Amino acid sequence: VTEYGKALAPTETPIPGLVIWDLPVHGDSRGWFKENWQRKKMTAAGLADFGPVQNNISFNDAVGTTRGIHAEPWDKWVSVATGRIFGAWVDLREGPSFGAVFTAELDPSKAIFVPRGVGNSYQTLEPDTAYTYLVNDHWSPEAQYTFLNLADETAAIAWPIPLDQAELSAKDAAHPRLADVTPVPPKKVLVLGAGGQLGRALRAEFGEAPYIEYADRAELDLTAPGLDTARHWRDYDVIINAAAYTAVDRAETAEGRVDAWAANVTGVGALARVAAANGITLVHVSSDYVFDGTKPGAYAEDDPMAPLGVYGQSKAAGDAVVATVPRHYIVRTSWVIGEGGNFVRTMASLAERGIDPTVVGDQVGRLTFTTDLARGIRHLLDTRAAYGVYNLTGTGDPTSWAEVARRVFELTGHDPARVTPVSTDDYFASAAGPVAPRPRNSVLETAKIEATGFTPADAGTSLSAYLQERSA
Ligand SMILES: NC(=O)c1ccc[n+]([C@@H]2O[C@H](COP(=O)([O-])OP(=O)(O)OC[C@H]3O[C@@H](n4cnc5c(N)ncnc54)[C@H](OP(=O)(O)O)[C@@H]3O)[C@@H](O)[C@H]2O)c1
Repeated sequence: VTEYGKALAPTETPIPGLVIWDLPVHGDSRGWFKENWQRKKMTAAGLADFGPVQNNISFNDAVGTTRGIHAEPWDKWVSVATGRIFGAWVDLREGPSFGAVFTAELDPSKAIFVPRGVGNSYQTLEPDTAYTYLVNDHWSPEAQYTFLNLADETAAIAWPIPLDQAELSAKDAAHPRLADVTPVPPKKVLVLGAGGQLGRALRAEFGEAPYIEYADRAELDLTAPGLDTARHWRDYDVIINAAAYTAVDRAETAEGRVDAWAANVTGVGALARVAAANGITLVHVSSDYVFDGTKPGAYAEDDPMAPLGVYGQSKAAGDAVVATVPRHYIVRTSWVIGEGGNFVRTMASLAERGIDPTVVGDQVGRLTFTTDLARGIRHLLDTRAAYGVYNLTGTGDPTSWAEVARRVFELTGHDPARVTPVSTDDYFASAAGPVAPRPRNSVLETAKIEATGFTPADAGTSLSAYLQERSA
């Protein structure tokens, strides 16, 4: 008989992520009642906030009815409404725990969280057993199942009722042995804006794997309609958004303003809805331009946003939207240098071509190399750092753009005195066309990400290495 009055409590099993729970069941002379799934209490007690969308019940007449072993492409929360089962779970996911087995009896006072990719099976121990489970994706005929034979010798499940006396389907009897099972690959990671500076560095950092997908603008445009159906989002664990409208000055024009908001706000909003609806971790990259640059010291993550121009405003609005996604990292960076056209390359090229530039000397910040930015993003994901906003820039003494230019001249063997510093006001007075206002102080405080165990590279050291690599 079902035990009444247990405290809600999880117990880990030898299969990572497979967690068995005691459920409180309240009984009296009428029968019993239980909260079979209660999001608030259960997530507070440590259950994954797995977002169920479908509830299934299978009713089993006879003792010894045996079903499985099926690994499904979604998470399950399994219990029994009446009766009792012997449950057996086999890890069929790619990785070191492939083949691990756990068995337990479940009655209405027990439930088990079965992560996607863990094979699930059971045998009924009482007649008229109702087995019930919540899943976090809608069943579909395209869903890829992975199966293991109930009699697999490696898993060696000790079925209480021998399989030759049990009720099972012909299909279940024909499933493969463990050696012939293709392990379930992990959920996918999608990198957006893969053609940009940061996107290319992310590809170098994360590499090529079957579950990593890179999409440039042609493959996935944030401003195109139908983002919510552009992928089967339930198959994704992480989206890294390196896509953005980044033409800071063009954003000040009538057309540019529309484009900046379409990508950086409306498009990011659509992405945020996808992430929130599918339990996806959204990594979004933001900018020092969300600040006005009037603060005397370095900007902390929680300093109030006060963007000056259209680009900065669009990035700030994007941050506000992404902050509503339950699993999000907003990575704020500054003065990004990677592959492709950028300030450092321009200066190196001017130096070589004998051109003496005038460069703004009153905007202060720190360079950030895309290799470092990509490494930091990976660190946040790998260490499952607390969700939220993180500044991530190169470290070391802040400098002006003119000082960066001089250093580039010096490091490439040219006379740094050829660089003439000018004020922002003078520089932009002479500019043709619209120019965005820029923060005078772009320095971001990196203590928060450092506290997670990540050490950003020194901007000056990275600059030397970057120029060396360029000339090599
Ligand atoms: N660069 C900096 O100094 C700096 C400073 C602070 C923060 N950030 C932030 O860092 C992130 C990465 O910047 P980055 O320097 O790598 O910029 P980037 O080189 O300009 O890359 C941005 C990429 O996004 C793509 N893109 C633009 N609109 C899109 C859309 N609607 N849908 C899909 N893709 C789209 C662009 O494609 P197209 O080229 O085809 O338009 C480009 O490949 C951005 O969030 C940016 O705001 C940059």
